[in-house]
Amino acid sequence: MSNYFLTTPIYYVTAKPHLGHAYTTIIGDAIARWHRLLGENVHFLTGTDEHGQKVAQAAETAGLSPQAFTDSIAPLYQQAWHQLNISNDDFIRTTEQRHKVGVADLLQRCYDAGDIELDLYKGKYCIHCEEYYTDDELDPGDLCRIHKLPVEHVEEENYFFRLSRFQDRLLDWYAAHPGSIVPEFRGNEALGLIRGGLRDFSVSRTSITWGIPLPWDDKHVAYVWFDALANYLTAVGYGSDDERFNEWWPAHHLIGKDIIRHHCVYWPAMLLSAGIEPPAGWAVGGWLLSGGEKMSKTTGNVVNPLDLVADVGVDGFRYYVLADTQYGNDGDFTYEGLIGRYNSDLANNLGNLLARVATVVGKKCDGIGPTPRPDSPLATAAESSYATTAAAWGDSAPSRALDATWSLIRATNAFLEANEPWKAEPGPEVDAVMGDALEALRIVTVLASPAIPDTCQTVWERLGLPGRVEDQRVPAAATWGGYPGGLTVTKGEALFPRKTV
Ligand code: MSP
Repeated sequence: MSNYFLTTPIYYVTAKPHLGHAYTTIIGDAIARWHRLLGENVHFLTGTDEHGQKVAQAAETAGLSPQAFTDSIAPLYQQAWHQLNISNDDFIRTTEQRHKVGVADLLQRCYDAGDIELDLYKGKYCIHCEEYYTDDELDPGDLCRIHKLPVEHVEEENYFFRLSRFQDRLLDWYAAHPGSIVPEFRGNEALGLIRGGLRDFSVSRTSITWGIPLPWDDKHVAYVWFDALANYLTAVGYGSDDERFNEWWPAHHLIGKDIIRHHCVYWPAMLLSAGIEPPAGWAVGGWLLSGGEKMSKTTGNVVNPLDLVADVGVDGFRYYVLADTQYGNDGDFTYEGLIGRYNSDLANNLGNLLARVATVVGKKCDGIGPTPRPDSPLATAAESSYATTAAAWGDSAPSRALDATWSLIRATNAFLEANEPWKAEPGPEVDAVMGDALEALRIVTVLASPAIPDTCQTVWERLGLPGRVEDQRVPAAATWGGYPGGLTVTKGEALFPRKTV
């Protein structure tokens, strides 16, 4: 069984979980669940980024010590992910001991390799990005382009990571690993950053104490990005359990477009310096915008994902996030869009199909599901739906995957409308049509389960199928002919009652 290690960014504990965080985490969850369906041994990691100046300041504002502050926020993430049915295998907090020892080890390795050196830094710093900027990277008035807030003037002695030495090594590595960043245009963005010239970056601070001390000079604490990126290693045993680390590393990273520089430039260079293999891949998402701007605490346009769950249910929300925006591009969150998707794809397409099938089987087949025909006209639709769905999940493209799965729902609804089994007398013809529809629905249930797991389990049970849909394995479970027939089909309540805005 092959191992598949998938990570989300770790979220700053300065903000409570919002739609933007939920977006990336739900995408990760669905991809992790897809890989489990493939029979892979999956390790899905998320967590919280708890050090740095921004967190220290937020703690001070809240009147708490940084540790007490982070202890109060990190559980909000854990609870939110639990409520959104996120199947993470681990949750790392950068204040944990396993992380601290690993970060010290990584720093020491880069230092021993001669790639970390002491220097004086004078410049402009955005504490919201935790990043230094040059004048040409700022908007007029010295405003950070992402946060539209003034940067601070900073002068301090820092240790620097000699990123400038890595341009050729990074370009060579990417040339030898084409397609490792998806979508391709985001990969080109990363290559553009590398080709544009690399500036050394500071990896330590003396102005703050809320961080991990450098092992060779404890007046300095590690720069928050160096600390944060290392979570991907330390969570699977780097610095504490080599065997476990070797079992899982390298990881597949899911990131937002705002952190390409850190993940696709700094990070592989740090790893190359330390003699560790760079990541297995990166899937870069756009932003989910609200009113045209990135949702963030700084801009104040934050939507609480858990409020939306109260309206459309966990799966209604997960489906919207996965289906509505093409991963890689920006998406615009609107409440109308959420309800529109819910009504069209979930209530009308999927919900209606199940209701129709269960009603007709109840009325015309004594409530017992008939077997499908091997040569059903739906068999080809199912085959192509599976092929396209699988390819799209493989490309980290959930919206395309769901569209391909929904093509089978649409084909099955059209098939029923063409055959009108509800008008026919019970008999072999109705049985044949309903066996085919049940089989198509069984396949849909397997294919949609990474996105809407609880709903799919409910449908699975209503079709009379035993066990857990998540224990199915594709491609076998998506192959035409798996519905055995002779099972009791249950109608139940509407899966997704229609909503008005
Ligand atoms: N702590 C760093 C990441 C360190 S990873 C080693 C950080 N945290 S964050 O909480 O600000 O954002 C984490 C991720 O969430 C980013 O990739 C960011 O793009 C994503 N999102 C935050 N807001 C978002 C939206 N409004 N839309 C989509 N993704 C968003 O950066």
